[in-house]
Amino acid sequence: MHTIKRTLTDLFVAELEALTGLDDVNPNVITASKPEFGDYQANGIMALAKRLGRNPRELGAELLTRLESAKCPLVARYELAGPGFINIHLSVEALRTRANIFLETPSSLIPATESPQTIVVDYSSPNLAKEMHVGHLRGTIIGDSIARVLERQGHRVIRQNHVGDWGTQFGMLITFMRESSAEADLALADLEGFYRAAKQRFDEDSEFATRARESVVKLQSGDPEYLEAWRSFIDTSLAHCQAVYDKLNVTLTMDDLKAESFYNPQLAGVVARLDAAGLLQESDGARCVFLDEFAGKDGDPLPVIIQKTDGGYLYATTDLAAVDYRCHVLNADRSLYVVDARQSLHFQQVFAVAAAAGFSDSRISLEHISYGTMMGSDGKPFKTRSGDVVKLVNLLDEAISRAYDLVSSKNPDIEEAQRQQIAQKVGIAAVKYADLSKNRTSDYLFDWSSMLSFEGNTAPYLMYAYARIASLLAKQGHNTQQKSLIPAGASMAPEEMALLLKSLQLAETIEAVAQDCFPNTLCTYLYELAGTFMRFYEACPIQSADEMTRSQRLSLCVLASEALKQGLNLLGIETLERM
Ligand code: ARG
Repeated sequence: MHTIKRTLTDLFVAELEALTGLDDVNPNVITASKPEFGDYQANGIMALAKRLGRNPRELGAELLTRLESAKCPLVARYELAGPGFINIHLSVEALRTRANIFLETPSSLIPATESPQTIVVDYSSPNLAKEMHVGHLRGTIIGDSIARVLERQGHRVIRQNHVGDWGTQFGMLITFMRESSAEADLALADLEGFYRAAKQRFDEDSEFATRARESVVKLQSGDPEYLEAWRSFIDTSLAHCQAVYDKLNVTLTMDDLKAESFYNPQLAGVVARLDAAGLLQESDGARCVFLDEFAGKDGDPLPVIIQKTDGGYLYATTDLAAVDYRCHVLNADRSLYVVDARQSLHFQQVFAVAAAAGFSDSRISLEHISYGTMMGSDGKPFKTRSGDVVKLVNLLDEAISRAYDLVSSKNPDIEEAQRQQIAQKVGIAAVKYADLSKNRTSDYLFDWSSMLSFEGNTAPYLMYAYARIASLLAKQGHNTQQKSLIPAGASMAPEEMALLLKSLQLAETIEAVAQDCFPNTLCTYLYELAGTFMRFYEACPIQSADEMTRSQRLSLCVLASEALKQGLNLLGIETLERM
């Protein structure tokens, strides 16, 4: 079944096309901005009238006549308003029918896509030389939510964890590891410290530095002994990452790894293909691609460096090989790169060079899903008090311990073991939700007290709203999984109607997230849903209502809880029946 918004949009498009003879109209159907405008409104008529040189009210009136005779079962009535808006009031009957379908089969609340695609989602992708730190948090969380949403719609999602596991740093690290094995084994438990120690040695001991540089060459030429040391370092580092993913309830596994080193065998071919396409130029000894669309401040074209003077390849070279792989081996229709906004020029260049050289074709959509930096309360990139980067594991442990204190003070009589379980879920959810609920393109201010608050647009608030519905259903001898339908014929208070409609709108919210990859749209929706529920709960008593009304209200509770739960799950947040 199409979403309400899609059904209305399709109807308006069909009628407008028949009316105007055009084939590219946009009725711009949105949810009504005010309750007096009905449930939805079409805002596109004015622009269309302008394009046709017609009076918008007149065009609107003609459209109205057609809409009325089309008799869409979803619509109770239309109104022509203002300079040419059309307000849409939905039929309570039709909404009830829809709701009952979903109550019968909750999974259908989010419809499967009619055109399933193969979609690559490249996210998290840390550099393995160091331990994951807060800088990796946003991409990991946002990417995971996008992957969940697309998968839920029935797309074939291929997660790609494009970890940085190659380059000069690894020469330094394995040399350090080989030369100080006993300490190194110990120190690897703290990768961050290990990196710092190796770096210090590298800076202070020039002979060590020379051996480190030589080891890079040995590594690159495939020396088995060096490769083995490298492999063991990488495996340790990956185990650290996996522990973070598991703690975060992020769906990435070892199977999703497609490390930079995977593309090594392709890199010489990348250079050859660029050369054959006539795109390579020498500049200061390096081999570069210059494209007209990328100019520096002085107007001179900016190079995309492909191969350095010493023969080494660059980050962009690997990404070109990855575009080729995703396009021609994985056959992806879309490839999403959930990466920090600071890499936006890099991706524009890679996408442009890839298109020019045929690493991609017009069928694939390459999209940089960028996000801003995580800031501390001082407005600077988030650091520890001593100015070090914050390790992700430590941050997550702190979130869990803060949540534990919170849960203990709110609910001291919950059993200890259960309290810990709740804290685990709430703490992680709070960190994730705080991030997901902000528009990803802006920088984001990390703040413990607001993310752990039970007021406002936070995970604790939404999880609590869910638990509250579960407990009020339990009081009525009902539960969130119970099948119960809305009986025909009972009248519906405005608060009931609002809750019904809002719950059904999960479907179109998910469609929007799948399209534009802004999970904050889903957060806003869930926050509004919880608010709509609270208003319903205050206005519509359940216990004292007559049997038919009571049953309608219980069904609405089940429907709303289902929408809340499914929505939170797509953000990677688990709900609790009690907290
Ligand atoms: N490892 C890179 C970094 O830490 C991110 C990789 C993103 N993905 C990509 N295909 N370039 O900055």
